[in-house]
Amino acid sequence: MLDNKGFDLWADGYDASVGLSDEENIYPFAGYKRVLNGIFQRIVQKPNAVVLDIGFGTGVLTSKLYEHGCTVYGQDFSQKMIELASQKMPDAHLYQGDFSQGLAEPLTRQSYDFIVATYSLHHLTDAQKNAFLPALCKRLKADGRILIGDVAFATREELNRCRLAAGDEWDDEEIYFVADEWKYVFPALQFEPVSSCAGILTLTP
Ligand SMILES: C[S@@+](CC[C@H](N)C(=O)[O-])C[C@H]1O[C@@H](n2cnc3c(N)ncnc32)[C@H](O)[C@@H]1O
Repeated sequence: MLDNKGFDLWADGYDASVGLSDEENIYPFAGYKRVLNGIFQRIVQKPNAVVLDIGFGTGVLTSKLYEHGCTVYGQDFSQKMIELASQKMPDAHLYQGDFSQGLAEPLTRQSYDFIVATYSLHHLTDAQKNAFLPALCKRLKADGRILIGDVAFATREELNRCRLAAGDEWDDEEIYFVADEWKYVFPALQFEPVSSCAGILTLTP
């Protein structure tokens, strides 16, 4: 599992390496652009939305939302990712912090129309997700939503099929969402598959 220094090293080549895996339509980033675009399209329906991005990376998604007039908040533990994202979004409110320890304190003083997490929450175990997601729900405005775009599957069978197909490329250290298994925690959860290994989860408190 990469720590913040590992992500510092990946930061400069991140956009290119993700794009390649998406274009070749292979695990883990097959569908990446469509996942981000699906989330973008949903958020821009609400003019001037206030958005919190968990693990924003180089700001591929949030920089587009920023250009579109959204107010952007974010948390990431990689200093290098923060530097790259800040260049694209000079007025965004970006904080350094390990989300396995929860939200950075200044982010707990806001409420958000949307909380997004793309390709980041798979770094938490399911138990950690189970603690973090309800805490995030408390930071949503009345009609707010959590939108998660990631390597994700409708069922455990689909995950196992992808694992077999990926072979040695499969990353055992990443813990992916299986939508069916989260419906016990979030009965209103919706899952939209986007590729053979990716999808968008919508969580409503
Ligand atoms: C694969 S990148 C995804 C970046 C971006 N959201 C995207 O869709 O391209 C994962 C990001 O999550 C951040 N990250 C991973 N684990 C983290 C943690 N425990 N706390 C804070 N940030 C973390 C990394 O630094 C990195 O920027």
